[in-house]
Amino acid sequence: MPKRDFLAIPDFSKSELIALFDLALRMKSGAYRDKPLAGKTLGMIFTKSSTRTRVSFEVGTFQLGGHALFLSSRDIQLGRGEPIKDTARVLSRYLDGIMIRTFAHSDVEDLARYATIPVINGLTDFLHPCQILADLLTIKEHLGGWDGKVVAWVGDGNNMAHSWINAAGVLGFELRIACPEGYDPDPLLLKHNQARANITVVRDPKDAVRGAHAVNTDVWASMGQEEEQAKREQAFAGFCVDDALMQLADPSAIFLHCLPAHRGEEVTESVIEGPQSRVFDEAENRLHVQKAVMATLMGHS
Ligand code: CP
Ligand code: NVA
Repeated sequence: MPKRDFLAIPDFSKSELIALFDLALRMKSGAYRDKPLAGKTLGMIFTKSSTRTRVSFEVGTFQLGGHALFLSSRDIQLGRGEPIKDTARVLSRYLDGIMIRTFAHSDVEDLARYATIPVINGLTDFLHPCQILADLLTIKEHLGGWDGKVVAWVGDGNNMAHSWINAAGVLGFELRIACPEGYDPDPLLLKHNQARANITVVRDPKDAVRGAHAVNTDVWASMGQEEEQAKREQAFAGFCVDDALMQLADPSAIFLHCLPAHRGEEVTESVIEGPQSRVFDEAENRLHVQKAVMATLMGHS
């Protein structure tokens, strides 16, 4: 069987995604007791910081019977310029899967091309597919599913927004993105998925949130953009998800944020701590859905 990677949401078909969520929910309920990673090792390469991704992958691997290795780019030769294609082939001789968080998406594609074991994208500048799987699972749990639902994205057209666009393209729900001019999502990715789902880009957050069932935002300056913080604070003025904005959403709407959050910037304290917030269920779901991904990609003998 050829190895499979998970670099982007469309690496799974709609039916495979539905099966993945069912498996994740079985794992979450405690009904699933298999150890598909027994005797297997996941390498976790990080060139950026992480709390959720690192801990959920490490704990998830352990719960499935396997072992996880934390590989900081500061400590491995990759950080001193060893080519990614050499790292890929060497690690493939030791490990059973690689999770990587880094800057350039092309580095993850290169790693996957040269590795003979599954590669999982734990965030690049372009995509954050594991997070969107957790967000979709949270929507499924709290709203019963995404068919006929409207997801609103308020903020930067960044890695999170891109993975939402991919998810809408595969699953077919309506996605409304509100971002300031100059912070639009990638036009090619957008056009490709607009042919598959109702995805719109608007400038006024109110137009995105009105009647929406899930309201989602993220920091204004992502990892690697720290020096743009002041400029972005100006550009994103008016893009804070506050109680007035949430009032426009569907009365049963939930608020999502991948975390870490900057209270008082992209979201107010009252929204993130309020009754519509599901951010900690969302963070927990990283564990369950990534276990389902690992069992699917790495679980066969
Ligand atoms: N949401 C998320 O990916 O969090 P970490 O950066 O803590 O991994
Ligand atoms: N867009 C954010 C997500 C962090 C989980 C970043 O890339 O820093």
